[in-house]
Amino acid sequence: MIRPAVAADAPRLAEIHISSWQAAYAGLLPAEYLDGLSDQAELRTAQWLDWLQIDSGKRQILVSVDDPDVVGFAHLGPSGDKDLTPSRVGELYAMYLDPARYRQGFGSELMEATFTHLRESGFEEGSLWVMTDNAAARSFYERHGWYADGTQSDVCLGITIPSVRYRVKL
Ligand SMILES: CC(C)(COP(=O)(O)OP(=O)(O)OC[C@H]1O[C@@H](n2cnc3c(N)ncnc32)[C@H](O)[C@@H]1OP(=O)(O)O)[C@@H](O)C(=O)NCCC(=O)NCCS
Repeated sequence: MIRPAVAADAPRLAEIHISSWQAAYAGLLPAEYLDGLSDQAELRTAQWLDWLQIDSGKRQILVSVDDPDVVGFAHLGPSGDKDLTPSRVGELYAMYLDPARYRQGFGSELMEATFTHLRESGFEEGSLWVMTDNAAARSFYERHGWYADGTQSDVCLGITIPSVRYRVKL
């Protein structure tokens, strides 16, 4: 089941965000960086609360629920890229599942809900950034019709992460 996130979900969103980075990016990002994320639960919870407060209209945080547990989330809204038109391109900012729930179809259900929400918000196209070496996520996105548009960037989060942009027609 998919529903919009509420403020009470913030700690769980932070927990999934951190544990999914640690599971999915082991070997792709420095171990010290990933280990250090465990100390950021409170900080991340506050960040999710902020995002939940500003989210309205075209911005949305959706959660996947395997009753009674929240098992993943998708964060979406207008594109933040300077070369894209935010009124016509919606961005999937992040999609992460609890590592214990990978490869059980929850991501596909979230992706369908993401497409529905982006279409209903009037976007004509979707975009997202994915780590260049994240082969698993790239396979998942390609399975759902996304394609690499040839744009590359180094995302800087204290560490440099080579990333590629994907697009999809909605
Ligand atoms: C990427 C993610 C959202 C996919 O969700 P999921 O529920 O695990 O994926 P699904 O079970 O819906 O998989 C659907 C299809 O995608 C592809 N896929 C999913 N995970 C894959 C993997 N690890 N390797 C290769 N293909 C994969 C397969 O084609 C799969 O179909 P199949 O299982 O019948 O072969 C989830 O695994 C995740 O949170 N990963 C870690 C975080 C991450 O990398 N997020 C993206 C950041 S940009």
